[in-house]
Amino acid sequence: MFSLNRNRTKSWQKLESEYKRFKDTQMRDLFAQDEKRAAKYTLSVNDLTLDYSKNRFDEGVLNALTDLARERGVESQRDAMFEGSKINSTENRAVLHIALRNRSNTPIYADGKNVMPQINDVLAKMKKFSDDVRYGKFKGYTGKKLKSIVNIGIGGSDLGPVMVCEALKKYWLKDIECYFISNIDGTACYETLKNLDPETTLFIVASKTFTTIETLTNAKTCRKWLVDALGEHAVDKHFVALSTNREKVVEFGINPDNMFEFWDFVGGRYSLWSAIGLTIAIAVGFDNFEKLLDGAYAMDEHFKTAPLEQNMPVIMALLGVWYNNFFGIHRYCVVPYDEYLKYLPAYLQQLDMESNGKSVDRDGHFVKYSTGPAIFGGAGTNVQHSFFQLLHQGTDIVPVDFIIPAISHNEIGDHHQILLSNVLAQSEALMRGKTVAEAEAELKKAGKSDEEVSSLKRYKSFTGNRPSNTLLCKKIEPFTLGQLIALYEHKVFVQGIIWNINSFDQMGVELGKQLALNILPELQGKAFALSHDSSTMALIKKIKMLRK
Ligand code: F6P
Repeated sequence: MFSLNRNRTKSWQKLESEYKRFKDTQMRDLFAQDEKRAAKYTLSVNDLTLDYSKNRFDEGVLNALTDLARERGVESQRDAMFEGSKINSTENRAVLHIALRNRSNTPIYADGKNVMPQINDVLAKMKKFSDDVRYGKFKGYTGKKLKSIVNIGIGGSDLGPVMVCEALKKYWLKDIECYFISNIDGTACYETLKNLDPETTLFIVASKTFTTIETLTNAKTCRKWLVDALGEHAVDKHFVALSTNREKVVEFGINPDNMFEFWDFVGGRYSLWSAIGLTIAIAVGFDNFEKLLDGAYAMDEHFKTAPLEQNMPVIMALLGVWYNNFFGIHRYCVVPYDEYLKYLPAYLQQLDMESNGKSVDRDGHFVKYSTGPAIFGGAGTNVQHSFFQLLHQGTDIVPVDFIIPAISHNEIGDHHQILLSNVLAQSEALMRGKTVAEAEAELKKAGKSDEEVSSLKRYKSFTGNRPSNTLLCKKIEPFTLGQLIALYEHKVFVQGIIWNINSFDQMGVELGKQLALNILPELQGKAFALSHDSSTMALIKKIKMLRK
């Protein structure tokens, strides 16, 4: 395989020279020079529109970026993923979250076996169960309708379901509430369980491996809470499992008939389309869950078929690479202007950072270029009043994705118009900025003294030329949300290919887990080790003293 380390590709070198040519170009000049810039650099896939015109590029840069994508084999690797090749090389697995929403149902093979029949079987089981719970056919042990659905999981077994459930809250059935327990902190269980009635509570234990200590510990606590109230026989009516690991599910004490299966070819952070989506299906109904799949499928088709120059995930990925590897910008911000999307940044953090936070390439070499950026974000307008100061005037540049629905699910007074005016103002302000001369003129116009003007003009100036994408849709509906999530999945995929890393393992989370297993018995007083560094030793000692 071609390595960027050993021999920078032709288009990589071209981009280095494009960067020298282009780095000082101001976006406000590009807009002034070309009144069609926005129209030229706006793409739509169904009802999702990406305006990427407020980015620091021109046609020359874009051509070099798409050349890079071609040279790196983005198209062939994409096809390999869709064909079920084992592109997760370190784990020797296919990467088939795309099969979970393959609405055409055309066969997709992993290890020579068509995976679609098993996927369809689980979808049918999810449909039946979610309908039965929603309409009271599947009842609790004492015959009452289940009203509180508690998803117990962490990482991909939590962030996807919680993000989608919250995003589609408007679609929830009136008499069903969903809760999410992820953190091992006992407070998470305590605060959730304290208001729940065991007779009407369903626990959904979501874990791909069924070995994750946080999830199993939380599930054990919840199981005890239920059994203390209703007895051991009640478990079958109040516990279901979503997993790839039947043996561990049984060992935990959940009836395998209550298990919804998925498979190794589905990565944890790509799993909300699988059985892991059961909480979503119960909350919003299976028809809406299917619309979510439809939306993702529509984006898959676009990703598979659109030329790179007009391919939404590819364009977003390439602009990210441009900033990361040529401008040296290693952070990225996502700001949805919709209260219901408030968990999207947290979801994208795992998707992006667990996928592309890697420093060894697919050939086993340490990379000599930077890979995945740090992602952060939050719901607009809240974050305008926290970290946006840095986005506008900080010394670091942070590219931003603004996500906006034109219509809110809750059109109250002029709230949404105000919200919309804010998001548009933010991207305009980041792009345009305000020169010192402009700030000076404004201060003078406001009647400030010469002294005030001269002391304030730089503080009041904005360098501008700060990039952003705007993703616009009509309303956050299941189909649109499916498209949006798949868009980011494919963006991350394309970047992984360009950086020649495997986006589908997560070995970086292992060391901490391993060490925690050593430290636990020491905290419990069951073991004593001198093998830690002096800081860790001292902290263990101090914690033990404080807990006495
Ligand atoms: O954080 C590591 C990780 O393996 C994630 O990739 C995964 O989503 C999460 O833990 C939970 O894993 P599981 O679903 O197996 O409990």
